[in-house]
Amino acid sequence: MEHPYLLAITFAICFYGVVKRRASDDIFARPKEAYASALQAYGSVIAVHRKGNLEYIVGPEYARYVLTCDKLFSFEQGSAAIMNLQPLMALTQGALFQDLNDFVREGIIARMDEFAVNADRRLTMIVVFPIYDRDGQSFVDAVRLPHKTQSLPDSFLHSRDTISEATLILLLGDAYVSDRNMRIIEDVSNGMAELTGQVNVILIKIPFGFVRQLGPQLWADMNRYEAMIASGIPTREEPKNVLYFIVKTYSPNGRRIGLLRRIYICVLLLCLIFAAVHTTTVVSQWVLFQLASHPDYLAPLRQELLRIREEDDTGAMRLTAASLREAHLLDSFIREVMRLKGDTISTMRCTTCDAPLGEYVIPKGSYVTPMSCMVHENPETFGDEASDFNGFQWAEQSKDAAMTGAAHIVFGLGRFACPGRVLAINEIKLIVLCLIGRATPSLLEGRFEVTDPLNTVTQPPKGTLLFTPLEQPLL
Ligand code: HEM
Repeated sequence: MEHPYLLAITFAICFYGVVKRRASDDIFARPKEAYASALQAYGSVIAVHRKGNLEYIVGPEYARYVLTCDKLFSFEQGSAAIMNLQPLMALTQGALFQDLNDFVREGIIARMDEFAVNADRRLTMIVVFPIYDRDGQSFVDAVRLPHKTQSLPDSFLHSRDTISEATLILLLGDAYVSDRNMRIIEDVSNGMAELTGQVNVILIKIPFGFVRQLGPQLWADMNRYEAMIASGIPTREEPKNVLYFIVKTYSPNGRRIGLLRRIYICVLLLCLIFAAVHTTTVVSQWVLFQLASHPDYLAPLRQELLRIREEDDTGAMRLTAASLREAHLLDSFIREVMRLKGDTISTMRCTTCDAPLGEYVIPKGSYVTPMSCMVHENPETFGDEASDFNGFQWAEQSKDAAMTGAAHIVFGLGRFACPGRVLAINEIKLIVLCLIGRATPSLLEGRFEVTDPLNTVTQPPKGTLLFTPLEQPLL
């Protein structure tokens, strides 16, 4: 051959093309592994082009720092940018996320315990338990009917409907429960399903439908609540929903709340539905799929259900906030499922300046996120068996599913860690107990798939759950 080097160059170019193609294929086909190996190869910070942005992904050593150093890495700016909420942040002088946080903490979470200790008040979980119970029963009744595989009752839709109804009641009250309002909640929650990263979220489109359809009822209720507060209604007769709590916060004397503030209240409610329904539904499915994959856990969990269920005045079995708190094994199982479900990018920060990070400087206005699965499967924290599923280990270590930490960031970390996490865990417990107390979950063909490995936060596993009704239901 006259010019053998030409052949060598051609071969080298082809080889480079194959390797490069494989690397970029890996980013799409196996992003988790591609990111993890890049972090291992290049240090603790890598930059990745994703959905038109350059994102910075950090390893476990910087996770806590990035999530908690709000001065350099802002949760508010990151979340506002992802959801196109900057104008609203400007209008509220940056109060939006703090308000959301406060209303969830004080309007829902603090009152869950308050209701539990005051016997003369209704327990929050008792308010919503009958819905979970009713829907669990009707789901298992539907399972008993003859079905073709394609038309089996869908546990995702079942859980989403139940959680939507419970959320409507907690946020707005029983009077809002209707087919139309449930569809509105589902539309909002589907918006969350499409939030797969730096997407311009539909938080422009959805509010029109929400305000147009729910607006008149919300407006009338705000008027009614103002009048109640002005008349000095006794605390025990106050409505037990978040809308009332918000109205009372903004109008402690019952004075009329202005138009802009009222619109802002609608936005707050919309954001709460957006944050609450879809995420909780998705995790409940991960828990059910893992239970179906690990059937050995069912017997101890059912023993626990027998121990924690309470009998009401009519002799019927029920679950209360207090009994859910005693469900330590299930709590641990949920924590383990959340730890190992393979989240990569679940919580985002935005740099407020050119932010130093180790030997790098991340430019101002950049998105930064920890690689969650490396945090959750870090051998330095969890030992050599970090990636092995051990569903009851957290019960032994007294670490609750809602407890965040530098090694457990499924609910974020720091000042803006998810304020609704206690409610979310209780709702997941209710979904699971109301099903496994009546039926045994298993997997069609014994397997499920992960549709989008970069996004296990808003995407449930893909597979078919089968339920075999128990001869003697426990609820
Ligand atoms: C399993 C279900 C849930 C998961 C996995 C989840 C996860 C998260 C995560 C990762 C964050 C960001 C935290 C950070 O970046 O540090 C967050 C924020 C938030 N979550 Fe959740 N969440 C869930 C359920 C809920 C529920 C039920 C509610 C409301 C009742 C809620 C309300 C919020 C709010 C309002 C924020 C914004 C934080 C703020 O404004 O301070 N979440 N959640």
